[in-house]
Amino acid sequence: MKPNYVFILVCCVLSISQATVAAPAASNGFRVRAVNLGGWLVTEGWMKPSLFDAIPNRDLLDGTTVQFKSITLGKYLSAEHGGGTILIANKILARSSETFKLWRINETTFNLKVYNNQFIGLDTTDGVNLVAVKNTPCILETFMILRNSDDPNRVRIKASNGFFLQVKTEELVTADSKGNERWDDDDPSIFIMTALSPYQGEYQITNGYGPVMAPKVMREHWETYIVEEDFKFISSNGLNAVRIPIGWWIAYDPNPPKPFVGGSLKALDNAFKWATKYGLKVLLELHAAPGSQNGFALSGSRDGTLGWGLDSIEPTVAVIEFLAARYAKNPSLYSIGLMNEPSLWVSPETVMSYYGAGYDAVRRHSSTAYVVMATRMWAHNVTEFLPFAAQFERVVLDVHLYNFNHMTVEDVMNGDVYTHCQEVVSAVTTSDGPLSFVGEWTAEWMVPNATKEEYQRFAKAQLEVFDRATFGWAYWTFKHVGIHWSLEWMINNGYINLTASDPISVSSI
Ligand SMILES: *[C@@H]1O[C@H](CO)[C@@H](O)[C@H](O)[C@H]1NC(C)=O
Ligand SMILES: *[C@@H]1O[C@H](CO)[C@@H](O)[C@H](O)[C@H]1NC(C)=O
Ligand SMILES: *[C@@H]1O[C@H](CO)[C@@H](O)[C@H](O)[C@H]1NC(C)=O
Ligand SMILES: *[C@@H]1O[C@H](CO)[C@@H](O)[C@H](O)[C@H]1NC(C)=O
Repeated sequence: MKPNYVFILVCCVLSISQATVAAPAASNGFRVRAVNLGGWLVTEGWMKPSLFDAIPNRDLLDGTTVQFKSITLGKYLSAEHGGGTILIANKILARSSETFKLWRINETTFNLKVYNNQFIGLDTTDGVNLVAVKNTPCILETFMILRNSDDPNRVRIKASNGFFLQVKTEELVTADSKGNERWDDDDPSIFIMTALSPYQGEYQITNGYGPVMAPKVMREHWETYIVEEDFKFISSNGLNAVRIPIGWWIAYDPNPPKPFVGGSLKALDNAFKWATKYGLKVLLELHAAPGSQNGFALSGSRDGTLGWGLDSIEPTVAVIEFLAARYAKNPSLYSIGLMNEPSLWVSPETVMSYYGAGYDAVRRHSSTAYVVMATRMWAHNVTEFLPFAAQFERVVLDVHLYNFNHMTVEDVMNGDVYTHCQEVVSAVTTSDGPLSFVGEWTAEWMVPNATKEEYQRFAKAQLEVFDRATFGWAYWTFKHVGIHWSLEWMINNGYINLTASDPISVSSI
């Protein structure tokens, strides 16, 4: 889950085939009532922003978009045609061609990616003019951003030839200014920098802290964010499982490719130990696949690029194989989720071909673990993988249901929970197909200033609907700075009580 998801869902109209079949429980009647351990082994900045606090220049992380306005011309630096040719400075408004994505080398040194995905660099023929032509950044595509200590948005940009960028005319940007000690308004080497849309995932935090600090910061986070006491709390408050989002780099622990750092595997081993001790089942799920399956920071993306595709199937299956091999014999392993929320830009055929191979990888090690297949993010047809999944044994279809479409309590209840959510759960719940799972939901919504009683009604209504899912459900999430997103907070403050005597009556829906 990520904040921008919320707003796009608002416009999302779903076409769902109504299933009328009554929902059977899993063969032994057991259903998962789980909580996600989100933000633990895969970083999501919005869940714990303080994790990023000690990063120098923490507004300039990988994937952050920046714009530079020339102080002398009052116009924005622009990659002509969005990239592929020269750099100019003639735009009054900053749009896509005037917006650059950062690749961070260290706290002061960056590559700048333009709209068409080339990198800004020095022209190889003269070493002075600025162009955006290279697809892979090298020395000529590397720049230092020097900030004015009094006004950090006032910057100079130093090129690899040792000189600063300057705007000579609207059509001529060169790297041949010596700069000076002053920051005067008539200096064509000064720009006003705007850093937009923070982008905060595992790549950003590890690369932001760098190779010396990142291992310490991450280890500290893994050891303190979720601890044994949390498993005890979870098991004694009416829950029977934890869903644990993990990143692909865990398969290469203790030496994952840079900038990722080792140590999350040990944390996961501990999770299994505690789960066994407190009688909880573990639902593993690959939240971040190699290359990023949806381009969001939470899937380990460097700069928002969706890099997962046909070529990624093999390395992704290798991660699943690693997990299955390591935990198949563990009595707490209950399911393996093959991939969180693949993008709509990935074709269903590619996703299914991966799901088939991922299923086989799990089955090479375990005949009992459930294999969870997620619907694509924002898929209009939530049953798109249903016939496919129905071919396999012990398979689960995962849908994520957040309710951000309405602003009033009644509209949320009637329009979202009792209409939309109910339709989705019905559609994916069949008598002879895969089991159905609401792998993410929350009792946070868009209703302003809702009372505690209104939150309670909302949570209860969702539980009624999601309890019909034959595999079960998982709340997003256990800990979160946004209190209603945190099931721990909701339980401690009496908003949700899963051990209360009032059992949800499935037949009354
Ligand atoms: C950042 O990298 C550049 C280029 O490699 C180097 O010159 C500079 O000293 C580095 N700065 C820091 C703070 O490490
Ligand atoms: C949804 O996808 C399934 C599987 O491909 C297909 O059988 C069904 O007709 C689709 N439903 C709609 C409404 O497109
Ligand atoms: C919510 O509460 C805030 C602060 O008490 C108030 O300013 C705002 O108008 C309220 N919003 C609504 C929609 O009632
Ligand atoms: C939840 O309800 C049960 C049964 O009514 C009660 O014993 C328990 O104290 C409640 N838990 C909390 C945290 O209020």
